[in-house]
Amino acid sequence: MEFTVDGRLIEIADDGASLMEVLRDRLGIHTVKDGCSPQGQCGCCTVWVDGKPRVSCVTPARRAAGREITTLAGLPPEIRAGWGEAFCASGASQCGFCTPGIIMRLAGLEARAGRTHTRSEVASALAAHLCRCTGWQTILEAWDGFGTPAPGRDWAAAARRAALEGGVSQAVGPDVALGQGGFAADTAPAGALVALSDGRGGWALGETAAEARAAAGKVQGRRTPDERPMPLELPDGDWAVRLRTCWVEPAYLETDASWCVPGGEPAGPLANGGAFGAKLTSLLPGIARRLADEHGRPVRVLWSREDTVRRGPKRPPVAIGADADGCGVARVVRTPGVSDVIASAAPGLEVEEVDVAGPATSIALRGAGWVEAAVALDALSDGTGEMVAPGGGSAWAGWHRGSLQIHVQCGDPLDEIVLRSYCIGAAHMAYSWVTSEALAVDHSGEVHDLTIRSFGVVPASQMPPVEVEIMPSEGAPTNGSDAVFAAVAAATWRAAGQPPDWPTGPIDA
Ligand code: FES
Ligand code: FES
Repeated sequence: MEFTVDGRLIEIADDGASLMEVLRDRLGIHTVKDGCSPQGQCGCCTVWVDGKPRVSCVTPARRAAGREITTLAGLPPEIRAGWGEAFCASGASQCGFCTPGIIMRLAGLEARAGRTHTRSEVASALAAHLCRCTGWQTILEAWDGFGTPAPGRDWAAAARRAALEGGVSQAVGPDVALGQGGFAADTAPAGALVALSDGRGGWALGETAAEARAAAGKVQGRRTPDERPMPLELPDGDWAVRLRTCWVEPAYLETDASWCVPGGEPAGPLANGGAFGAKLTSLLPGIARRLADEHGRPVRVLWSREDTVRRGPKRPPVAIGADADGCGVARVVRTPGVSDVIASAAPGLEVEEVDVAGPATSIALRGAGWVEAAVALDALSDGTGEMVAPGGGSAWAGWHRGSLQIHVQCGDPLDEIVLRSYCIGAAHMAYSWVTSEALAVDHSGEVHDLTIRSFGVVPASQMPPVEVEIMPSEGAPTNGSDAVFAAVAAATWRAAGQPPDWPTGPIDA
């Protein structure tokens, strides 16, 4: 069959591959990202088919026969550069993994109807997408700002601020927004074998992802149950405050990936951040190295969305009861280091670590342990205090007429656009966690929510406005968004009336 891709006529055999597989694996167009295939739920693989945005991972390539396919790489250079600038000018791209698909969505709106869409229409159009980093608002600002000359920036200073906020090295600039973040799934040498988990503890290899998938013989999991049992019982007692959290999925968009050449160093799965602590101990670099040495060839190792949900670490669920003096009990799923981080925020809580069947847990995830403890103690106060993160950054958050007001102080901002973007992203992450996110894990420890939409990440159309004030500070730059995350979680729970169990459901603030 034949179709055109970015103006080039392509002829391929119809072997049942998806359009995304053809674009990424056969044509090497890596601005098309794979965040959840074949779920069709994250929007990272969005391209135009005859000018209309489509998620290519659920579009059979045969449906493209005779049509015109446009990827981000195929947009006219001035349009592509304009979107890259607009996303950088508002801080709408952090890790940059979701961004190419979102740009294709916005560019599609622009191409069809110019600037006639309202902000809320644009937010609704983003329903086909997910972004874990930015919190949506800056993406809507990029829509508003498209075509406006961008201010000059010190990209090195911006990258320093991004690295402080994301916890790993991160580049900032138009190339990142345009899909060139250097992700491991994109940068493997040509001819690398592809290795996919076979779901039975082993790896299936093939010359292409489609071949490896066929060898794995894996059936995609799509269960979404009605119930999400709470993993821990609240401690007995007549406490002044009670807080219980559920399993939640970190939901980073770039699933774990690595590649290695025989005898070489494996590529890291955190090429440009975006996982907020979740991929620091990823297993895939070690597996890429082993498979490359065993097969004597470069090997690219990929986790699917389902693999990432089942095997990636979660923040440890807690069940806290505290008295008015801050003393009480913090029950928590057993996790290395968690007692210390809880004690650092709430020394009056006696920590009980409990063995619970379920996915791996880690305190590397953003604020894990100390934020839950700090939020519980904040509920005993009048809510006017600041949250101070272990690194010294501080933040205050409150609700005013349906919008979130945030003050943050974290030393020299280095780049206010990046700092503001991370604060808005942290606000979204906290608001979404408190009100909406949960992962079903049954009593035997099996994870049941395997599709990215089932994690409960709050979409663009339901995210309240956020106002960030960066407080002056002469101090050395330090992370500020973790304190924002804690402050927004506390303010949101307060606005919800502090019901013991999270997620609380939507709030009226
Ligand atoms: S990869 Fe296609 S929608 Fe997620
Ligand atoms: S910038 Fe959207 S997922 Fe990272």
